[in-house]
Amino acid sequence: MPDLSISSITAREVLDCRGLPTVQVDVIAGGVLGRADVPSGRSTGSYEAHELRDGGARFGGFGVRTAVANVNDRIAPHLIGHDVAPQRALDAALIELDGTDDKSALGANAILGVSLAAARAAAAAHELPLYRYLNANAHVLPVPQVNLINGGRHASNDLDFQEFIMIPSGAESMLHALQIATEVNLQLGEILLDKFGKAALNTGDEGGYAPPLSDPEEALGYLHEAVGRAGYDDLVSYGLDCAATHYYDAATETYLLAGQRHDRAGMIELYQRLIARFGIVTIEDPLHEDDFEGFAELTAASGIQIVGDDLFVTNPARLARGIEAGAANSLLWKVNQIGTLSEALDAADQAYRHDYTVVVSERSGETEDAIIADLSVALNAGQIKTGAPVRGERTAKYNALLLIAEELGTAGVYPTRTGSPTVPVG
Ligand code: PGA
Ligand code: ZN
Repeated sequence: MPDLSISSITAREVLDCRGLPTVQVDVIAGGVLGRADVPSGRSTGSYEAHELRDGGARFGGFGVRTAVANVNDRIAPHLIGHDVAPQRALDAALIELDGTDDKSALGANAILGVSLAAARAAAAAHELPLYRYLNANAHVLPVPQVNLINGGRHASNDLDFQEFIMIPSGAESMLHALQIATEVNLQLGEILLDKFGKAALNTGDEGGYAPPLSDPEEALGYLHEAVGRAGYDDLVSYGLDCAATHYYDAATETYLLAGQRHDRAGMIELYQRLIARFGIVTIEDPLHEDDFEGFAELTAASGIQIVGDDLFVTNPARLARGIEAGAANSLLWKVNQIGTLSEALDAADQAYRHDYTVVVSERSGETEDAIIADLSVALNAGQIKTGAPVRGERTAKYNALLLIAEELGTAGVYPTRTGSPTVPVG
């Protein structure tokens, strides 16, 4: 058994892909370093754990000096001398020290940085890759949900749906999946350039194009056309992240989509039409974050994968409510929504026990830290959402997965349409 005792915990501010500060934590245990960066959302759910920002003028209010100080001055003295593992004990100590339900005393960003860096230090102390340290049976590579057209809060266009996704679910390997995604993206660029001129090639927060459109059917049409031109109709399926909370108007109980108001029934009708027309196999957050009933209705009616992001916020209690109601059949899994690795792992376990799939996800504000690559394999989730493969903070995850695929060798499985129940198929 290696020495696992923590000798130091240090945090600092680093920048994320939007140029905004985020927390980076170093944990040294048994003489080895574990380092992790904390990601940050832009279309966040109301029920997420509390991300502590400084406010004021510095960095436009986005500074995280207080969260950094909470790691250095409050968490470090409390945990030095403790063991970095088991993870549950470490995370329980963090939760207890914070003492609030939403981690607002220390900041979920402070807590998560320590939790993830500790997991890395423990893996390093055992001389194992993180995915293997967390799961002796980790072997499934994730099929990516590749977000090639951006809208909503991630783009400066008029598309209300946040993500228009292509899924290389018929690829033969991780690398083949990325080849398909890139070839489709190149075709998509040509199509958008022809149609709208150069301005259409501007990209959104996750690297997908942000064309000047408002009609979601038109966007799906271009994506389809790009897949066809690239010659991959047989290997690709489609998905959406609607992030519907962000165009829902609670006062009138309607969704304002492309200038038109729809009630819940109208939205469900629209989704059913898009599913039938485009062969969509997965929809995330089709309705607002409190509409468990509407989620249940669409899940039953559509028969496709319905994913809860703002609905569940990777929170075991909200997921339990969803399971009870039959709301969605898939959990979007973002560690920073709940704030510790153990709680996020609990949410995934709970999802699997109730036949929910798990989609491991980035945030729109990411760094080069590729920890979700390891976590997706550790969970054998079979699905990951990590943006368009065109910018460093996104390719970091894809490249990490290529390395993991190489490490796993013939023991690794890239799930195909026929090979795995974890992949939604058209
Ligand atoms: P966010 O978006 O990281 O800005 O919340 C990602 C998502 O909604 O899936
Ligand atoms: Zn989402």
